[in-house]
Amino acid sequence: MVLGRVALLPIALLAVSACGGSNDKQPAKPPATDPAEVVATTEEAPAPTQTIPPVTEDRFTNANYNEVRVSHADLDLNVEFAKKIIDGVATLSFDRIDPAAAELDLDTNGLDIKSVEAGHGGKFAPVKFTLGEADPVRGAKLSIALPQDADKVRIAYRTNPNAAGLQWLDAAQTAGKEHPFMYSQNQSINARSMAPLQDTPEIRMTYSAHVTTPPELRAIMSAAQDDGPVDGDYQFDMPQKIAPYLLAIAVGDIAFKPINDTIGVYAEPSVADAAANEFADTPEMEKAVSALYGPYRWGRYDILVLPPSFPFGGMENPRLTFLTPTLIVGDKSLTGTVAHELAHSWSGNLVTNATWSDAWLNEGVTTYVENRIVEDVYGEERATMELSLSLEGLKEEIADLDDPKMTRLQLPADLKDPDDGFSSVAYDKGALFLKFLEGRYGREVFDPFLKSYFENFAFKAVTTADFRTYLFDNLVEKHPGKATPAEIDEWLFGEGLPATTPHPVSHLFEKVDAEQARWLASPGSAGKIKSAEWSTQEWLHFINTLPADISSEQMKDLDIALDLSNSPNAEIAFAWYRKSIKANYRPALPAVEGFLTRVGRGKFIYPLYEELKENGEAAFAERVFEKSKLYYHPIAVDRIEKILQSAN
Ligand code: BES
Ligand code: ZN
Repeated sequence: MVLGRVALLPIALLAVSACGGSNDKQPAKPPATDPAEVVATTEEAPAPTQTIPPVTEDRFTNANYNEVRVSHADLDLNVEFAKKIIDGVATLSFDRIDPAAAELDLDTNGLDIKSVEAGHGGKFAPVKFTLGEADPVRGAKLSIALPQDADKVRIAYRTNPNAAGLQWLDAAQTAGKEHPFMYSQNQSINARSMAPLQDTPEIRMTYSAHVTTPPELRAIMSAAQDDGPVDGDYQFDMPQKIAPYLLAIAVGDIAFKPINDTIGVYAEPSVADAAANEFADTPEMEKAVSALYGPYRWGRYDILVLPPSFPFGGMENPRLTFLTPTLIVGDKSLTGTVAHELAHSWSGNLVTNATWSDAWLNEGVTTYVENRIVEDVYGEERATMELSLSLEGLKEEIADLDDPKMTRLQLPADLKDPDDGFSSVAYDKGALFLKFLEGRYGREVFDPFLKSYFENFAFKAVTTADFRTYLFDNLVEKHPGKATPAEIDEWLFGEGLPATTPHPVSHLFEKVDAEQARWLASPGSAGKIKSAEWSTQEWLHFINTLPADISSEQMKDLDIALDLSNSPNAEIAFAWYRKSIKANYRPALPAVEGFLTRVGRGKFIYPLYEELKENGEAAFAERVFEKSKLYYHPIAVDRIEKILQSAN
């Protein structure tokens, strides 16, 4: 039996979470529970073995989604490059959860609201509305007075030229240099800077859109695309219910290259061929993941390759994954990111984290599924290497996080910013938790369990408490004696790395270790390192495991022999630059500068700016940021400003 979200809680904790405080005290060690006893005596999931309150509501929305719920958004958007704005009309259909509800509260961020009407049966009339004060994170609440019979509202608005989720690139900032480009990045809470919405993953809506652009540009969205000509007038329909952060748009000189009948690549024309080759394995990935977890439910799966300023590796916009061009290296070695975004079609887009404190349910489950896809398509060696690299990264991140609460899977309710929830804890600790379960139950049991989880919660939002209940009801209690509640709760609510963390062993990495040890023992011998056959993953392991006190001389030896400062592979270059800055190997700085002016992907540039700041290169960092920031996405500019302003 599946319990409601709060039913598991001791009363005292409920009181704490209801008033918005946080109870962060955790017993040093949870009392060990005998698994046999739990299984024999409970029909329902056992009470948590750690006193961590659940997070039951999204605190990053101003929407009154428990009273009135938006079910469909119909958008009419005019994309105006000269002003860097979208001039829009959003018509929202809604259901009343509370029949007496007299107000609809929406999220907005930077929107200029021109008029608000409410209507019924196609007739609209102006209604009263107020736009509240803007909170720096949540934006401003738009409260609309609802007439009794209204079932739609219509809002005319304009976006701000500095909208948090939109990037406007001049022609000079694109690959083709002839046409401007704009795109959205709405996760986590930027959809509200593109349209007035209930911007919370607790709700789901369908959407349709009519988009006008300059006639020579193409618009595409996270929806069924317009298959008409490139003429500046486009119609879109998204018939599946999505969480609002998955609303997405891109406009530019965009070509299309099919990979097969249902999968293809959109990109600037000069990038399209290379992209289609790099991502040619996508159909095989889809086959692998569907075989494991059930059919792909979204119709087409297309990829859009963005200009290099895209601040992420990938973004799982439904039907239209957005990807960084830094994945295009010619050898398909970085396609794990495609597997990752495709995997989100199950974990994230189909079954969605209810709050941003449950980000691991999107990212951790996805990272696990990504690794299963990589194993199927590229073999066990590569999958193990990637898992091992992520464990190395996770250990570092856990050591670096100042606040131990941020090392939990279920993050505290009082997160400052939803994006704080996306550290490698959510991704890699989350994935290792599922790897732990896979190890205890075996794939014959665990694979069908995960498939049933996706089916059971399809098109729904899930909290960590919901996941836990489903896990106990459908795995732990059906297969007694494999994992104890205390072990599971240590993963979900405990801090740091659990005692039961799996340690993947890659034999290829052992060989790399041997080469590294040999080189370290004989100074100046980098030319003898047997690296000719190394994959990207082996290079990353080699660089990431170089000793913390490596000297600038040793770095130089490597660089002369292996030319790492000029690596065309962004992952390898990043790992090398990071090490170079830490080791005070200054000859790499010109290459670092080139990289930071060319690439806007946060995973690379935030740590590089941090390392520069921490290692006596703040002036260099400021100078490079000054000249690059016009080109970075507003999300990245914001983040880097914080890094550069912070005390060391
Ligand atoms: N959904 C994320 C990107 C994201 C996270 C956007 C948080 C906004 C807020 C996406 O699926 C992702 O995880 N991208 C990763 C790549 C992945 C292979 C780890 C990235 O961008 O590096
Ligand atoms: Zn992801």
